[in-house]
Amino acid sequence: MPEQKIHFHDMHSTANDLLEDVITGLGKSPRSIPPKYFYDEQGSQLFDRITQLEDYYPARTEISILQKYKQDIVQSLNKHCLLIEPGGGSCSKVRIFINDLQPGMYVPMDISKQHMLASAKQMSKQMSWLDIHAVCNDFTLKLKLPDGLPDAARVVFFPGSSIGNFQPSAALQYLLDISNLLGNGGQLLIGVDLKKDKNILERAYNDSEGVTAEFNLNLLTRLNNEISADFDLQTWSHYSFYNSEQSRIEMHLQSMCDQVVNIGDHEFYFAENEKIHTENSYKYTVEEFQLLGLEAGLQVDKVWVDDGKLFSIHLFTVKTK
Ligand SMILES: C[S@@+](CC[C@H](N)C(=O)[O-])C[C@H]1O[C@@H](n2cnc3c(N)ncnc32)[C@H](O)[C@@H]1O
Repeated sequence: MPEQKIHFHDMHSTANDLLEDVITGLGKSPRSIPPKYFYDEQGSQLFDRITQLEDYYPARTEISILQKYKQDIVQSLNKHCLLIEPGGGSCSKVRIFINDLQPGMYVPMDISKQHMLASAKQMSKQMSWLDIHAVCNDFTLKLKLPDGLPDAARVVFFPGSSIGNFQPSAALQYLLDISNLLGNGGQLLIGVDLKKDKNILERAYNDSEGVTAEFNLNLLTRLNNEISADFDLQTWSHYSFYNSEQSRIEMHLQSMCDQVVNIGDHEFYFAENEKIHTENSYKYTVEEFQLLGLEAGLQVDKVWVDDGKLFSIHLFTVKTK
């Protein structure tokens, strides 16, 4: 019998959060719902489709940087490390370099439990040498590892510009949390989308095949399925634009008419054109992001950028005095 190389840790046991967070968010002005709720099973699959779209440059550009600079990246990372990937999703980008890196252990984490389990199982089948500890968690809460993992040098891989979903002050706090988790000498390899022409940005989040719209609207389907909401999807539309003052793409769901929506015992009135803010995706320059890292006590080691200057991958090291 081959040694079992995959373990699962459920560190996300907060079943009532969805209802509470949605009621709180819809009660605010402006109304909002946290983006983490996009990712039910269907949402995770839709996100994977987004990454394949011609209009969605971030995924393909980040992949091309990882492929082009793989050797340099692998040589720069701690050998035999404990490789941790928050929000790993389909774990597709790590596959580009994990065989060359040969980490001592891989710890993918995600809020979308079934999706992450399926990705981790598939990886385990294809890479029988790899020790995997898959974790279901919420990375907006305290970042924690399961007990009992080996005491090896740590590397956090955080691709997909997921850091852009945090407000800059929360992004700083998150980098501090990562830095604490890593400890002295630990490394952070992080993908960050760059500021660029507004048209390129807006096309990426309003793709011509309508998959991003489907992804955004799927949130309402999830609320109908899981917390007995009665959103009529025919009366809502996807709305996304680049807010240049805040340097962020904003995604909203917009009501196409005056209407009342019920969620359990709660009733919400939406006027025509009223919006629910569902996601921000902040964009940085390389220098701005390096400064944020420095503020979090991270030492800037390297940065890799594509020729079109669309996307960046940064390597930071934790240096405590
Ligand atoms: C933008 S996708 C990026 C996926 C993948 N890392 C990539 O680069 O293609 C964000 C991922 O983070 C996960 N996620 C979102 N919010 C999360 C949270 N609060 N805690 C844990 N995972 C989260 C989603 O399920 C999804 O897999």
